[in-house]
Amino acid sequence: MTKSFADQVRETEARHVLQTYKRAPIVLVRGQGARVWDTEGKDYLDFTSGVGVASLGHANPGLARVIAEQASTLIHTSNLFFHPYQAELAEKLARLSGLDRAFFCNSGTEAMEACLKFARRYWYTKGDRQRTAFVALTGAFHGRTFGSLSVTADPHYREPFGPLVPGVTFVDPADPSALDAAVTGHTAAIVVEPIQGEGGVRPLSPAFVAAIRAAADRTGTLVIADEVQSGLGRTGHAFYSTVLGLKPDLMSIGKALGGGIPIGAALLRESISQAVAPGDHGSTYGGNLLACRAGLYFVDQLLEGGLLAHVTEVGAHFQRRLQAIATSHPMVSEVRGAGVIRGLEIDRPASAIVDAARPLGLLVNATASTVVRLLPPLTITAAEIDEAMDRLDQAFGVVERGVQ
Ligand SMILES: Cc1ncc(COP(=O)(O)O)c(C=O)c1O
Repeated sequence: MTKSFADQVRETEARHVLQTYKRAPIVLVRGQGARVWDTEGKDYLDFTSGVGVASLGHANPGLARVIAEQASTLIHTSNLFFHPYQAELAEKLARLSGLDRAFFCNSGTEAMEACLKFARRYWYTKGDRQRTAFVALTGAFHGRTFGSLSVTADPHYREPFGPLVPGVTFVDPADPSALDAAVTGHTAAIVVEPIQGEGGVRPLSPAFVAAIRAAADRTGTLVIADEVQSGLGRTGHAFYSTVLGLKPDLMSIGKALGGGIPIGAALLRESISQAVAPGDHGSTYGGNLLACRAGLYFVDQLLEGGLLAHVTEVGAHFQRRLQAIATSHPMVSEVRGAGVIRGLEIDRPASAIVDAARPLGLLVNATASTVVRLLPPLTITAAEIDEAMDRLDQAFGVVERGVQ
C-alpha cells in the first residue's frame, strides 16, 4: 500500500527534524479565518491560533495583500540602513503602550532577552554595577534563550542547560510578602507576565501588583512586563498591565504582532532608552520591512479596525459558554483568563481533552499539565465560539465516559 502524504511527512520528520516537539499527529496545509485543514481534508476550529500568533485568523486577505505587496517590493535591508516602516510601527506602539521607544527583534524570547539586557545596561550606565539581579515568578515562562530561560521557572526547561544567568530569585505570585523580601538594592528588574500563559492562564492578583508597586517604589527597581502572550488585544485591552494598574518600565511583545510573520519588540521608557548606545544590541533581521508591514497592518486593525471592542464583546460570550461547560462537567474546577485567552483547570492531564477534541474538529492545547488553554484568533466570531464550545462540551463528555 502506498503511504499517505501525511505518513511521509511524519516519517521524514522523525528521521531528520530535531525532536524537540511532541506534535499532534495531524499535518495542516491550509487555513481560512479560525479554521485550518489537514492533508485528509478534515477541518478544525483552531483555538490555538499557532499559540496566540494568528491574531487576525488564517489567510487574512488584508494581511496577505500587504505581505505580498512588500515581498515584491523589498523584504529586507538589515539595520545598516533606514527604511520607512520601523519608525511608523515604533510610533504606533508608543501610542498603544505609553512606552517611548521600540527595539525590534524576531520572537518573544528575543524581546525578553533585550529587556533583560537593557535593564542591566540602565544600571551599568548609572554606575550602579552591583545592580544585576532579577526577580521572577514561579510559573513564569519567558522563552528559551539563556537570559529568557534564566527567568523562566520550570526546572524541566532549565536544568539540562545550567549554569544559567546568575542572580535570579523566584517568588510565588500567591505570596506578595515574599516579593518584598526578594527585591533589594541589587535587583535590576522585577519580571512578570500580567497573565501567566504557559503557566496556566493565571492573571496576577491585585495584592501582588500592589506588592510590585511597593517594591519598585522602595528600591527603584525596574519593572518588566512580558506581554508576549497577554498583550496586543488578546484580553480586549491593548495590554493587560494597564488593566492591572501596573506601569512597566519595559515591555516585551511578540506573537500577535506579525499575525504569523515573526516579529517581536522590546518597548522602553525614555529614561532607560537613554542608557543604550549604538552597538549595544542588534539583530540582522529585527524589524525588516516585511515584518514591520505585517506589524503595522495588525496594529492598524487594533487601533482603527475595532478589534479591541470586538474581543471584549466576544470575550464575554466566550466566558459565559466556558462557565456553562464548567458547570456541567465537574472535572473543571476553574475558568481563568480574559477576552480570548482562557484556561480551564481540570482534575486530570489536560491532554485527555486536547486529544478528545481533535477528532471532533477542535484544536486546543494543554499547558501547565492540567489546564486546557484556548487562544482563538482575535477575529473569532460568537457563532464560531458557539460551534467550538459545542465540540468542547462533547470532548468533555467523551473523556468522562472514558470512551477514547
Ligand atoms: C509570555 C511569553 N513570553 C515569551 C515567550 C517566548 O516567545 P517565542 O516563542 O516567540 O520566543 C512566550 C511564548 O510562549 C510567552 O508566552
